[in-house]
Amino acid sequence: MARPPRPRRSELATPASNERMFAKAAASGADMVFLDLEDACAPAERESARGKAAKALRELDWGRTTRAIRMNGVDTRWAYGDVIDVVTDAREALQTIIVPKVRHARDVWWVDTLLTQVEEWIDLPRKGIALEVLIEETEGLENVGEIARSSDRLEAIIFGAGDFSASQGARVDTNFDPVVPYPGDLWHYARSRIVVAARSAGVDAIDAPFPNYRTPDAYRTACDQAAAMGYSGKWAIHPSQVDIANDAFAPTSDEIAHARRVVAAYRDAEANGLGATGLDGMLVDAAHLRHAATVAATADLLGLS
Ligand code: GLV
Ligand code: MG
Repeated sequence: MARPPRPRRSELATPASNERMFAKAAASGADMVFLDLEDACAPAERESARGKAAKALRELDWGRTTRAIRMNGVDTRWAYGDVIDVVTDAREALQTIIVPKVRHARDVWWVDTLLTQVEEWIDLPRKGIALEVLIEETEGLENVGEIARSSDRLEAIIFGAGDFSASQGARVDTNFDPVVPYPGDLWHYARSRIVVAARSAGVDAIDAPFPNYRTPDAYRTACDQAAAMGYSGKWAIHPSQVDIANDAFAPTSDEIAHARRVVAAYRDAEANGLGATGLDGMLVDAAHLRHAATVAATADLLGLS
């Protein structure tokens, strides 16, 4: 059974070791904040950060923001402790765990199974905690189809361009753009592969971090390009990126109004025994109805009219 949809236009990264950043993250208006136990934490801080994350998840006012952590990868010595300690301490205050560097479906099964044991042991609702996975290893991209269907906890697949470019050996700068001339979008194949796998499995695709937080226009362009491909949101690595992503991944009022007109025109045609009609000089058929239904569902999810 599909899990209920959740807005995830913006997923804001916040180091779990840095308590000074938590209040700002909680008030950022992001659809999701994840307290990061992985790469944003120095290795020596990764264990002590678990308690800080759990306390913040329990005690701060997060409003409508989904509360998440990013655990360490399943091939590290921190992975089991991240799951057991944070879930036991935060309980229902933790809604989602992001699993980095997933290579195989079995990586996700391992987290799912451990979570099920912890939920049962401490009497939490079964399967209450959702998973998102990062595809950021070439091996993960090879296996993304089976990863996308690996667990009924899985709600989204995230493209991790930073580690992915390292894994692929790409010659890129610190914003993951090519340092030598390249015709087109270096990451188009990876992004396409991920969104097709995600949609086939009925989960969301989320686009990569954009490290250059001083170029809001370039971030907006990256959001728009991902939204055009069917991505539901993008990571934000700075609170200033949140509003941009929230706007870019929401249908505009014009799109929503047009979608509603398409539905009305199609229903009218249907009532007259027709499978297609015209609207503003444009064909409207069952495929257009599907597009319109997607826009309407996103608008409803986000409370837009
Ligand atoms: C995210 O973790 C990335 O590597 O891009
Ligand atoms: Mg990474």
